[in-house]
Amino acid sequence: MRTHRCGALRPAHVGQEVRLGGWVHRRRDLGGIVFLDLRDRDGLVQVAFGPDWTPPDLMRAVGEVGMEWVVIVSGQVVARPEAARNSEISTGDIEVRATGLDVRARTSAPAIPVWRSKGEPLPAEELRLQHRHLDLRRPELQRNFELRHRLFQRARAELTAQGFFEIETPILTKPTPEGARDYLVPSSVHPGQFYALPQSPQIYKQVLMVAGFDRYFQIARCFRDEDLRADRQPEFTQIDIEASFVGPRDVYAVVEAVLSALWSEAGEPVPTPFPRMSYRDAMERFGTDKPDLRYDFFVEDLGALLGRRGFRAVDDALGNGGRVRGIRVPGGAALSRKDTDRLAELAKGAGVAGLATLKHQAGQLTGPLAKLEGMTPDLAQLGDGDLLLVAAGGDHVTSPALDRVRLDLIRRLAPEPKVRHAFTWVDDFPLFEPNPETGGWVFAHHPFTSPHPDDLARLEAGQRSGVRALHYDAVYNGNELGSGSIRITDPKLQLAIFEILGIAPEEARRRFGFLLTALASGAPPHGGFAIGFDRVTMLLSGAESLRDVIAFPKTTAARGLFEDTPAPVDPRDLAIFRLAPTR
Ligand code: AMO
Repeated sequence: MRTHRCGALRPAHVGQEVRLGGWVHRRRDLGGIVFLDLRDRDGLVQVAFGPDWTPPDLMRAVGEVGMEWVVIVSGQVVARPEAARNSEISTGDIEVRATGLDVRARTSAPAIPVWRSKGEPLPAEELRLQHRHLDLRRPELQRNFELRHRLFQRARAELTAQGFFEIETPILTKPTPEGARDYLVPSSVHPGQFYALPQSPQIYKQVLMVAGFDRYFQIARCFRDEDLRADRQPEFTQIDIEASFVGPRDVYAVVEAVLSALWSEAGEPVPTPFPRMSYRDAMERFGTDKPDLRYDFFVEDLGALLGRRGFRAVDDALGNGGRVRGIRVPGGAALSRKDTDRLAELAKGAGVAGLATLKHQAGQLTGPLAKLEGMTPDLAQLGDGDLLLVAAGGDHVTSPALDRVRLDLIRRLAPEPKVRHAFTWVDDFPLFEPNPETGGWVFAHHPFTSPHPDDLARLEAGQRSGVRALHYDAVYNGNELGSGSIRITDPKLQLAIFEILGIAPEEARRRFGFLLTALASGAPPHGGFAIGFDRVTMLLSGAESLRDVIAFPKTTAARGLFEDTPAPVDPRDLAIFRLAPTR
């Protein structure tokens, strides 16, 4: 039907007869000449209808054409006069003089506009999600999905080149513990029984290693019924990877190759290998396990500087086994009282009692900490115009408090980033986390993660805290891009770990028997990783939400507004599954 795509025409096509198909993005009547901006996936082109070259019946017809009608036009490509060139679109040096017009679909005014004048805000997101078929026509979203497609292909090519096989694993499966609730699917053949949608392909990919596939990957859809935020969706996509006879460094090399390929596909080459940092260092210096390393603000232990100088809150915290930690802010004395009060509110939200300040301005120290015995700018190592922000208490509150403060300072002071792309590995995560509800332990990631070999003795001696895992995360500019680990291959150790997590052997066999049986049949050492693909695409396309890189996303309330999900089902359907309707 067409000779070219709208967005593909260039000065080299001048003089050619072309036929194009697309949507009418905009129509302008300029006293006798009618311009249609015709849009397809590749972009926009201006089509001009004028009495000197367009037959009179088409001049009449084009007068009726409305926004978002589907038309096929034919005509000749001509160069635009100098004054009419538009450098903002790729076809801005040419236009098509129409000699044919075939209207293929008429439509009334679209429910939300696809064309907007410059600076005009987008319609409310809820409205856009309800009319997703129109929203997706927006050139920005079309570009995001083009990038998403290229990133998929690039990841596939890179992993294929490294000897990975793409293998699919079931969607109707047993629960995979990744820390969220499962989506359950009732069986009509076996009423009262359920499949679970996979939270990840974790167990299957390990079984594929036991089965000898050596290197597996999958662009895997995962389903997690959890509280949603801008960077989480109930169904999302991972580039899921597993390999045999590997240690952490082998996995890092594979993942670095994939991530750097993805970044270069987006036109942003990045150096590898990525630096590494232990979980402990990350928490110590940044208060978080996903530090944004583009900025030089660090969390410091200030116990030696501030302790025993007559400040009650500080000494109390130190006496109660807590610590005093803070952030030095060059130029931070310029922050207003209102700013520091707001930072204190943020910190309190994370559980600390407050945020104490020490400011150095024109040789004078001010703020509550200025009263400390013997305190001087030199002792505090505060340059003129600098600020020290201090929180006291256990690490479990000072870390998140100072993380929030640090991120807010970065937003507020907007310092020049040291680099554009700051990747890092964070490794040596704890294997267990305390469960405040039960007083027991929960797995920090998933229960198949191998303990650190240096900590096996501690584990056997019954210690839980401080036992590290062979677990690692890839972090980029403060975002967790993905995570992985070396796995447990010994079924006895796997059972012991389940038991520590409160899963008795009988229950473990019921829930994970297929994995335990597989592990007992000769499991190679193996490990892997999963890259959060939506997150990567969001970051590389500059989108602010995962919803801008997922074609039909859910809202933060886990609803599909376009198709209207979830929806009640007919009670007769429930009866097939022997499920009772809830009132
Ligand atoms: P994990 O649970 O850390 O690891 O997931 C890996 C990455 O997937 C992304 N991600 C999400 N993206 C969007 N919406 C969500 N709800 C969501 N949840 C996770 C994140 C995350 O870093 N089986 C292990 C991997 C392994 O050990 O190999 C796993 O799934 O970017």
